[in-house]
Amino acid sequence: MAHYQGLIHRYRDRLPVTDSTPIISLNEGNTPLIELINLPKKLGHSGRLFAKFEGLNPTGSFKDRGMTMAVTKAVEAGSKAIICASTGNTSAAAAAYAARAGITSFVLIPDGQIALGKLAQAMMHGSVVIQIQGNFDDGMRLVQEISADLPIALVNSVNPYRLQGQKTIAFEVIDALGDAPDYHVLPVGNAGNISAHWMGYSESICQQTAACGLCNGQCPYHIKALATRRPIMLGYQASGAAPFLRGAPVSHPETIATAIRIGNPMSWNLAWAAVKESGGWFDECTDTEILEAQKLLAQTEGVFCEPSSATSLAGLIKDLKRGKIKPDATIVATLTGHGLKDPDAAIAQSAQPHRVAAERQAIGHLIQRYLKGSDLK
Ligand code: F0G
Repeated sequence: MAHYQGLIHRYRDRLPVTDSTPIISLNEGNTPLIELINLPKKLGHSGRLFAKFEGLNPTGSFKDRGMTMAVTKAVEAGSKAIICASTGNTSAAAAAYAARAGITSFVLIPDGQIALGKLAQAMMHGSVVIQIQGNFDDGMRLVQEISADLPIALVNSVNPYRLQGQKTIAFEVIDALGDAPDYHVLPVGNAGNISAHWMGYSESICQQTAACGLCNGQCPYHIKALATRRPIMLGYQASGAAPFLRGAPVSHPETIATAIRIGNPMSWNLAWAAVKESGGWFDECTDTEILEAQKLLAQTEGVFCEPSSATSLAGLIKDLKRGKIKPDATIVATLTGHGLKDPDAAIAQSAQPHRVAAERQAIGHLIQRYLKGSDLK
């Protein structure tokens, strides 16, 4: 079997690179599409439900897909430094890929509002970490101004190469399932990812479908097409940071899901296009629903994602209950980041460890209590 060398290598015919492009990769992508087996039963869903676990990328989030492209193109263009604003995951990815490329990274993060694991990553990879007394939206405005003045490449998702890399998630889903699913659900913050998913799905279908009356699966476009259809896209936001639901930017976004604590999404139009063209919708989830979904997934399927990622599942659960999604549909949920990114959120909502003496009898009593079922879950 060929050694997997990352998504640019795998999908280079569909990405803006040439043979001389110096590829900066950490073998990102190729993440598992895990079929959920216990949750569908619990939710009364007779169709198939898959989690695309992006937490298993090299820095623990989907950002690596975009960052391999953005840093590759920055290096190709001769950049010696990159900059981004971030709620944490982009900064972790920027720091790691800059380290790999041997260039400098500057990251602007909201003071005290990013998960511990993500801060540790940016620091450990040697990024210049700048904590601003403001939120992500303030940071975004600042890095746009700074990168316009200084010779530093901006690697937020306003950089078109980011979406190019991130679109490969759709290719992988189609490769795994043989076609697009009926629905694809994901959390929405700055809205680059839902836009990139849609781009990837759109590039995978027959480009002539509408125009070509002759096409019965025989035309060259159809033969090249990898999927026969595109999924319905559902984007879920946290209630305190839900500009797509409010129809306008939110000036003071608030949510426990700090990765999507964003009030002024950059990919506003692209995200609306994805949802409208696909026949999908946006919806919102409360922090309580998000944390419940995170825990449910961890405890019924053994999959540990961060709170923001669980927003896709929280929204999906609501829409399944309301009957908005067909009960036999094939659904893919993107789990954008690993649960280990945010240990504080996990520990705060879990049963606390038992503190007992280091004695066999004490531990035996405790275990007996569980086995008798008194404390059995
Ligand atoms: N989930 C996670 C874990 C994220 O880190 C982000 C965004 C999203 C979902 C939303 O994706 O912005 O493309 O709609 N995090 C960015 C960051 C903003 O700075 O790490 P989006």
